[in-house]
Amino acid sequence: MAEEKQADTEILSGVGKMAGEKQGDAVILAIESSCDETAAAVVRNGREVLSNIISSQIDLHTLYGGVVPEIASRKHIERINQVIEESLAEAGMALEDMDAIAVTYGPGLVGALLVGVAEAKAIAYAAGKPLIGVHHIEGHISANYIENKELKPPFLCLVVSGGHTHLVKVKDYGVYEILGRTRDDAAGEAFDKVARAIGLGYPGGPKIEKAAREGNSRAIAFPRAKVAEHPYDFSFSGVKSAVLNYINGSRMKNIPIVEADIAASFQQAVTDVLIEHAMAAAEEFQIDQFAIAGGVASNQTLRSGMEVACRERGIKFYHPSQIFCTDNAAMIGAAAYYEYLAGKFAGWDLNAMPNLKLGER
Ligand code: KG4
Ligand code: ZN
Repeated sequence: MAEEKQADTEILSGVGKMAGEKQGDAVILAIESSCDETAAAVVRNGREVLSNIISSQIDLHTLYGGVVPEIASRKHIERINQVIEESLAEAGMALEDMDAIAVTYGPGLVGALLVGVAEAKAIAYAAGKPLIGVHHIEGHISANYIENKELKPPFLCLVVSGGHTHLVKVKDYGVYEILGRTRDDAAGEAFDKVARAIGLGYPGGPKIEKAAREGNSRAIAFPRAKVAEHPYDFSFSGVKSAVLNYINGSRMKNIPIVEADIAASFQQAVTDVLIEHAMAAAEEFQIDQFAIAGGVASNQTLRSGMEVACRERGIKFYHPSQIFCTDNAAMIGAAAYYEYLAGKFAGWDLNAMPNLKLGER
């Protein structure tokens, strides 16, 4: 087991050039375009957000029931310059005032990532500023630094988004050990698929949450999956299939389905598993700070469940505001600051890496 844990330790060690450690204040322009949000932000010292501009494409993708990669790339190209200009204007700053330009370079949709990476490289090169490549998940984790000035590693973090479900030990800034991850669907993906099945549309998370408010979370006993011998791994394909089977079975028997009860029972099954695994890790590793991150972290049932579970164990619980949970560039600026301090800068060969793993460079 110890050997296995060791093998799972993944260290983020910096992109490209090492320019030596930097000291003190830094204002960073950050760009995020990994999925369907075109975003730019100006962040001072990793914790103070001077501007946070997000241009969402959700309305466009809703027509198709999910993100269409080609449309996402095209819209990023159309919007990115204006989003960056707005972020500088709102911060009351110019490009010359920036100490570095940061950009998400993976994981995500390759075409979407490329737009941000090419833009960041062009701006950094033209303005003579250092470039910082940021891992998207590291950004989500770092969103917790923005409103919680006292939060410092070590802490545990549950990252739950549309593409990822990771239970991570944040050992230090930029140093992570992945304790567990999903074996199939990400938590957000399960919300999106179930929402589609009960006809709620895209994006599913907020719609399930809203429908669940009118429902009974104990109405239907959906499964809470465990992965044998891997207490911190997750599997959400079973609960998703159980919901689909329940709907089909009810229809065949002409039993009317109560969407709100399905939504509430599904949401409860997913959050129960997330909280149980999270607390098992907190107890084993005896770490008294726990954070959540990613789009699903804005779910109120998950937040209040985590809050109670942490309080019962004397653990301090952290979560970002909703605006910093879903994709944004402020979180990328927060993560980039610690790369900046460590002197971890990217070369001009920085490329989009759609399958970038946490810990890989
Ligand atoms: O972090 P994010 O904006 O993008 C990724 O990096 O994936 O997360 C988006 C995901 C979607 O699957 C969406 O349905 C889910 O987060 N989500 C939620 C809620 N808000 C967004 N899931 C559950 N409850 C919510 N309130
Ligand atoms: Zn994300």
